[in-house]
Amino acid sequence: MRKVVLITGASSGVGLALCRRLLEEDDALHLCLACRNMSKAEAVRTSLLASHPAAEVSIVQVDVSSLLSVFQATKELKQRFQRLDYVYLNAGIMPNPQLNIKALFRGLFSRNVIHMFSTAEGLLTQNDKLTPDGLQEVFETNVFGHFILIQELESLLCHSESPSQLIWTSSRNAKKSNFSLEDVQHSKGQEPYSSSKYAIDLLSVALNRNFNQQGLYSSVVCPGTMLTSLTYGILPPFVWMLIMPIIWLLRFFANAFTLTPHNGTEALVWLFHQKPESLNPLVKYLSATTGFGSNYVTSKKMDLDEDTAEKFYQKLLKLEKQIRVTIQKTNNQN
Ligand SMILES: NC(=O)c1ccc[n+]([C@@H]2O[C@H](COP(=O)([O-])OP(=O)(O)OC[C@H]3O[C@@H](n4cnc5c(N)ncnc54)[C@H](OP(=O)(O)O)[C@@H]3O)[C@@H](O)[C@H]2O)c1
Repeated sequence: MRKVVLITGASSGVGLALCRRLLEEDDALHLCLACRNMSKAEAVRTSLLASHPAAEVSIVQVDVSSLLSVFQATKELKQRFQRLDYVYLNAGIMPNPQLNIKALFRGLFSRNVIHMFSTAEGLLTQNDKLTPDGLQEVFETNVFGHFILIQELESLLCHSESPSQLIWTSSRNAKKSNFSLEDVQHSKGQEPYSSSKYAIDLLSVALNRNFNQQGLYSSVVCPGTMLTSLTYGILPPFVWMLIMPIIWLLRFFANAFTLTPHNGTEALVWLFHQKPESLNPLVKYLSATTGFGSNYVTSKKMDLDEDTAEKFYQKLLKLEKQIRVTIQKTNNQN
């Protein structure tokens, strides 16, 4: 039977590059593109099938910032598939990013310069907003919508005889100090993106603890800094082109500048080939590129503890319960 791979955010950037690379590895796969924009998804499907006619490529429409859309998509997926072998939880946003110029110049002349460029730590703030579900948009898109997606797909993911893998696109920008168990949605801070990526790291650890025995494994990756629509929201393409010589130079000292979505998928593709039971749940797998442009995968222990991960997971379950009650009440009223 064909292995089934579900990928959120497959319409551009690292998600699109991942589709191409996975089919280069194995064109007998069934890729299911989980995208919010159907015309973009159709165009991707057509181009993937043109280069890999033996593959099966299907689409499911999902907007992970809308719980109704997630429920509709998971209902469809449960009708279409018996199991999912891999789910890449990759869709993500960094809305209205603002570069902290002061921090940039301070960092340029400090010993932390390489770390600052590798992680964007302290460099970026974002303006978040509420979704129609009443949740912070960055949290709902990057974390909670995906959490509900896998909760709803449990029956397709938990088979102890042959494991399924969840692979989250996190970031080197995930930072403990930007996350708080008292404000998991980061409604009070200015770095919701970093908080959401740290939340993903915690969630992955908790999912391993709660689901490994049922045959479900979870890992997190950082694709590195790539030029995609997300990074073009930070600086326009022409500015990236202007600073490219500096970045090429920096690449000899920092391996995080993967630059292209193809390079950025290195860790995501590597995980596709690993036995999930053999992976360390407490490390993040990082796509890396050398100064001479060779790709490799490296790993880093995450700055978190299992107790906090479990507490966060319990908070998500509680939030899910509250939201289900609200949705039920609204349905009853209509
Ligand atoms: N670029 C980087 O340097 C970098 C570094 C570290 C981590 N990442 C992570 O990599 C992942 C992919 O980002 P990217 O760089 O490839 O950026 P991208 O090109 O902007 O891709 C983001 C993808 O997510 C989808 N998406 C956004 N909001 C969605 C929603 N509400 N529902 C469904 N899909 C949604 C987008 O769909 P549309 O096409 O419809 O917009 C797109 O397919 C993200 O999780 C990001 O945080 C990126």
